[in-house]
Amino acid sequence: MTSVATLHTPEPTPARQSTPRRFVMCRPDHFDVFYSINPWMNPAEPVDRTLALAQWETLRTTFERYGHDIDLVPGEPGLPDMVFAANSGLVIGGRAMSARFTHPERAAEGPAYHDWFARCGFTELVAAHEINEGEGDFLRVGPRILAATGFRSSPAAHREVARYFGRPVVSLELVDPRFYHLDTALMALDEDNIAYFPAAFSADSRAILTALYPDAIVATDADAVVLGLNGVSDGFNVFVSNRAAGLSAALRARGYNPVGIDLSELLKAGGGVKCCTLELH
Ligand code: ARG
Repeated sequence: MTSVATLHTPEPTPARQSTPRRFVMCRPDHFDVFYSINPWMNPAEPVDRTLALAQWETLRTTFERYGHDIDLVPGEPGLPDMVFAANSGLVIGGRAMSARFTHPERAAEGPAYHDWFARCGFTELVAAHEINEGEGDFLRVGPRILAATGFRSSPAAHREVARYFGRPVVSLELVDPRFYHLDTALMALDEDNIAYFPAAFSADSRAILTALYPDAIVATDADAVVLGLNGVSDGFNVFVSNRAAGLSAALRARGYNPVGIDLSELLKAGGGVKCCTLELH
């Protein structure tokens, strides 16, 4: 039998490189929705904690299967959102800053996470003075930090982070309450590219993002409303909602490997993959 030569060679995609990461996670032992601080949270809708635990466990073991290390922070009773470890602070190059939350419902998470960072041996550790919801609103992309304000972290927090970490901080403004944290509307893909949902940002911020990231993946409404942008990338594998079909296809077309994750139960609190994951950079 003769083989037929391929007439069309596939489009070359850039070679992507996965690098092992260290993530902090908090098991949703106390997960619940009994208050509402974002439009996703409806305390009248029941939460299946057993399912939340199983979905979260799948995320954890998936990270491990792809070669990433996980540090576990114990959750605390009465702090149902503590599972969203991304909000605990920001850790870059051995320096750590623990969060200061906007809402009294989450205020006690700041000191709880701070104590954990201290127990972990971070000596360069401060508690944020300004309202600062950690990697929910501050995402390191290469040398710079993209930071959001509008719903949670304050502009003063952006200045505080720039001073403490000695890095340029780009301030962005969120305008749609469904996308109340930066990581609900923008995902770092690698050291120099992002995916984002433009309608979540003010016109000025959209102009900044277009100028900084002309090759960004621009997500659709359908991807954004399932919190598809709330993903975690290791430079090649992108852990992303299994409901974000368009975004997954776009990632694949750019040479990334989307890994679908189902966190439907945590979505009831407005959280997804990235919310559950703090990266120790
Ligand atoms: N219920 C939590 C809140 O509104 C969800 C936090 C999700 N975390 C995140 N990094 N976006 O604060």
